[in-house]
Amino acid sequence: MVSFFFCTLSSFIFLCIHVSSAADTISANFTLSGDQTLLSSNGTFKMGFFKPGNSANFYIGMWYQELSIQTIVWVANRDKPVSDKNTSVLRISEGNLVLLDGNNLVWSTGLNSSSAHDAVLQDDGNLVLRDDSGSPLWQSFDHLGDTWLPGAKIRYDKRTKKSQRLTSWTSSEDPSPGLFSLELDESTAYKILWNGSTQYWSSGPWNSQSKIFDSVPEMRLNYIYNFSFFSNETESYFTYSLYNHANVSRFAMDVSGQIKQFTWLNNNNQWNLFWSQPRQQCQVYAYCGSFGICNDKSQPFCQCPRGFRPASQKDWDLKDYSAGCVRSTELQCSRGVINEFLPLTNVKLPDNNSEGLLGSTSCRSACLGNCSCMAYAHEETSNRCLMWSNDVLNLQQLEEDNSEGSMFYLRLSASDMPRNSPSGKSNKVMIIGAVLGSLGVVALVLLAVILILRSLRMKRMRGEKSDGTLAAFSYRELQNATKNFSEKLGGGGFGSVFKGALQDSSVIAVKRLEGISQGEKQFRTEVVTIGTIQHMNLVRLRGFCSEGNKKLLVYDYMPNGSLDSHLFITQTGEEKTVLGWKLRYQIALGTARGLAYLHDECRDCIIHCDIKPENILLDSQFGPKVADFGLAKLVGRDFSRVLTTMRGTRGYLAPEWISGVAITAKADVYSYGMMLFEIVSGRRNTEQSENGKVRFFPSVAATVLTKDEDIRSLLDPRLEGESVDTEELTRACKVACWCIQDEESHRPAMSQVVQILEGVLEVNTPPFPRSIQALVENDGSVVFFTESSSSSSHNSSQKQNHSSSSSSSKKTTNNNSSA
Ligand SMILES: *[C@@H]1O[C@H](CO)[C@@H](O)[C@H](O)[C@H]1NC(C)=O
Ligand SMILES: *[C@@H]1O[C@H](CO)[C@@H](O)[C@H](O)[C@H]1NC(C)=O
Ligand SMILES: *[C@@H]1O[C@H](CO)[C@@H](O)[C@H](O)[C@H]1NC(C)=O
Ligand SMILES: *[C@@H]1O[C@H](CO)[C@@H](O)[C@H](O)[C@H]1NC(C)=O
Ligand SMILES: *[C@@H]1O[C@H](CO)[C@@H](O)[C@H](O)[C@H]1NC(C)=O
Ligand SMILES: *[C@@H]1O[C@H](CO)[C@@H](O)[C@H](O)[C@H]1NC(C)=O
Ligand SMILES: *[C@@H]1O[C@H](CO)[C@@H](O)[C@H](O)[C@H]1NC(C)=O
Ligand SMILES: *[C@@H]1O[C@H](CO)[C@@H](O)[C@H](O)[C@H]1NC(C)=O
Ligand SMILES: *[C@@H]1O[C@H](CO)[C@@H](O)[C@H](O)[C@H]1NC(C)=O
Ligand SMILES: *[C@@H]1O[C@H](CO)[C@@H](O)[C@H](O)[C@H]1NC(C)=O
Repeated sequence: MVSFFFCTLSSFIFLCIHVSSAADTISANFTLSGDQTLLSSNGTFKMGFFKPGNSANFYIGMWYQELSIQTIVWVANRDKPVSDKNTSVLRISEGNLVLLDGNNLVWSTGLNSSSAHDAVLQDDGNLVLRDDSGSPLWQSFDHLGDTWLPGAKIRYDKRTKKSQRLTSWTSSEDPSPGLFSLELDESTAYKILWNGSTQYWSSGPWNSQSKIFDSVPEMRLNYIYNFSFFSNETESYFTYSLYNHANVSRFAMDVSGQIKQFTWLNNNNQWNLFWSQPRQQCQVYAYCGSFGICNDKSQPFCQCPRGFRPASQKDWDLKDYSAGCVRSTELQCSRGVINEFLPLTNVKLPDNNSEGLLGSTSCRSACLGNCSCMAYAHEETSNRCLMWSNDVLNLQQLEEDNSEGSMFYLRLSASDMPRNSPSGKSNKVMIIGAVLGSLGVVALVLLAVILILRSLRMKRMRGEKSDGTLAAFSYRELQNATKNFSEKLGGGGFGSVFKGALQDSSVIAVKRLEGISQGEKQFRTEVVTIGTIQHMNLVRLRGFCSEGNKKLLVYDYMPNGSLDSHLFITQTGEEKTVLGWKLRYQIALGTARGLAYLHDECRDCIIHCDIKPENILLDSQFGPKVADFGLAKLVGRDFSRVLTTMRGTRGYLAPEWISGVAITAKADVYSYGMMLFEIVSGRRNTEQSENGKVRFFPSVAATVLTKDEDIRSLLDPRLEGESVDTEELTRACKVACWCIQDEESHRPAMSQVVQILEGVLEVNTPPFPRSIQALVENDGSVVFFTESSSSSSHNSSQKQNHSSSSSSSKKTTNNNSSA
């Protein structure tokens, strides 16, 4: 402080800059104006005037000094900007910290009869107003903005029944309080509210035993944040710290209406999104405002329907959609003015409607007859007519094949209705236009180009029709291409695969499906869906054939075959060159990426259901490609029966396949974990050793992990001598062990597995999987069966009440699965 005083008096002295940057306290001797800043004592946080984005306004804000991206964590005058930072000053005045613009009071800490002496910017990002004796009078941690920093608390005051709130910015250029906020409620749950009242997400109550929120099971995987809960008669609060103080991390109520946790990646110089809720953008209440249509699969997420435009194009461009859409032409509702209805297909109906049973009139005329009716939907099953007046919030576009979609009719002035289109086609064209808007046009043009190119290529190949973007082959063609199915590449529960070559000499793999119970139309629909899924770690479907019960799929051919042939020593003793560690790790990572794509990125979550080394194919560069995805839907109802009884699959099946509960993407995670162990060990998980004892590798690995024994003992002995990155090995084993936990919620999502393998996320030591634990404890009393007896040790022990009988009955688990 001394030095700074010196500095402002004689600013020509060179030393000034260096010395002044050390000030961390505003006092009678030091005020903040223009480009001056405060710096916390160890240099973590900086405070001063800033201008968000292209805004013309200045605010007093706090940000990380060292990060290359200015990230504002707190703003003093959130909704009262100043226009000139040179004429504005932040100072101690009459016992408060105040922001003055000239002589106007813009912002103040607002304490009555306060005798504040100074305000210090602490290293944790807290600005503290103190009296003469240094006792705190006011602190910014009690007045949170959109960011919750480590050490700060979000309190619930039990006497006033009020919670502190994190409140989003209005837009990226406007820090004033937006519509979304996070607060704590009396039941120890966090909830996210829209406009301070409508709740659209809750963390579920805090579980003090497991230290997670009930609806946030993924917290178990959290390795960064140490959350703790405090409660006494007057208040309760959460706070958190970072396990590793070197990490930079923040938690924010984002302008998107989602809470987001970020960690700073030093290597990439950027924030990495660690976690966010709600998962889907369209789950955020009223995100697209009134009449806006939300679509999780489009960018931007919000569109205005035909006949509407954004209420504020400027806000819309800043991704603040809250004002929604307004009509291009005001609706007139007098005699003689014609209103019509714009049909929207496959939408999730908005909230808040008035409803009535249909009498003699149609729903349409009921709506037309009431000037305050803005839209209607006719619910056919109950013959109810739903009508909307005022705002239409949470209109959401669903996928074409989502069965929950409804028809929705939006009232429009006749002049805004699309014209001059022959009736049959008009609806479709119009709907597409309304939903996709201008972006859709681009997509349509692209699609058309792709279609044309494809069909040209196909025409060159043969003179036949195509189905979507896929080639539709005749059986004869494929018979010729595969030389009458002479070169078999492999077989499985759903059909055999043959090598073939097309006329353009590209090599293909043809899968001849067996036991398809799907009808023709549904088969084609599923095939087309599979055909649209393309990712570098997924085998590409090129075409199909469907003639009666002859159903075939045509894939790219993968010259290096399947992973099992490289991993395991085959029964014939034939041994290919051993896959090195680096390559194995890349294969594990690539496979995880492919699966994460299937689960999260493509239109519907696709659960593979049959992850095992046989279904991981390797291209010429040994790049992994997941094969056979989408078969579950293609095969239809017999799928799970075939799968659970199929030889060579059982060891990878998650317990829920056997117990009969609904299958989620976490079943793939389980299978992946099992496979990852095999990638590490180079052997099947269940193996009979020479002395007749059965070795169940996951149990060995879990023991090593939990007892912190030598991790290298788990490695494929053939890799001895190779320099194996122990950290990678540890990471792979830990994540594999997490993947095979009994509880689905304890298993990571595939996208988290990717991050862990990439080294972006670290991973805690996993607990011993419960069912495997049971195995170890029962050692000796449980008989393990090898592959050929079609029962894996893991599954038979899953049902503990069966474990004693299962040793005498090989078929126990099979019976369960078909039940
Ligand atoms: C700042 O001013 C106070 C009186 O208001 C004085 O006691 C103190 O020594 C000054 N500090 C510095 C660093 O000049
Ligand atoms: C504030 O002052 C600095 C130099 O003191 C000058 O460069 C800048 O243009 C001024 N800003 C405004 C808005 O007047
Ligand atoms: C300060 O006093 C005013 C008027 O007496 C009152 O409205 C306000 O709530 C008080 N502020 C605080 C922080 O106590
Ligand atoms: C500065 O202090 C904070 C809070 O005490 C600490 O978390 C951080 O690691 C420190 N930073 C440096 C660079 O010392
Ligand atoms: C939010 O709620 C307030 C009343 O609590 C209301 O006046 C305001 O219009 C609401 N905002 C929106 C965008 O609906
Ligand atoms: C987690 O936070 C609590 C409360 O602040 C503390 O007692 C505990 O030591 C912390 N745990 C670790 C591992 O840092
Ligand atoms: C509850 O704890 C806070 C500190 O966190 C303390 O100020 C308050 O007095 C406590 N209330 C009771 C009733 O013990
Ligand atoms: C946390 O800090 C440690 C040690 O500096 C570093 O290795 C790790 O990558 C950091 N994690 C993140 C997510 O930044
Ligand atoms: C929804 O309906 C409730 C009660 O009928 C009403 O209070 C609320 O304002 C409505 N909300 C909207 C957005 O129309
Ligand atoms: C028109 O609709 C509004 C809102 O649903 C309703 O309150 C009103 O009674 C209706 N008017 C007539 C004439 O049915």
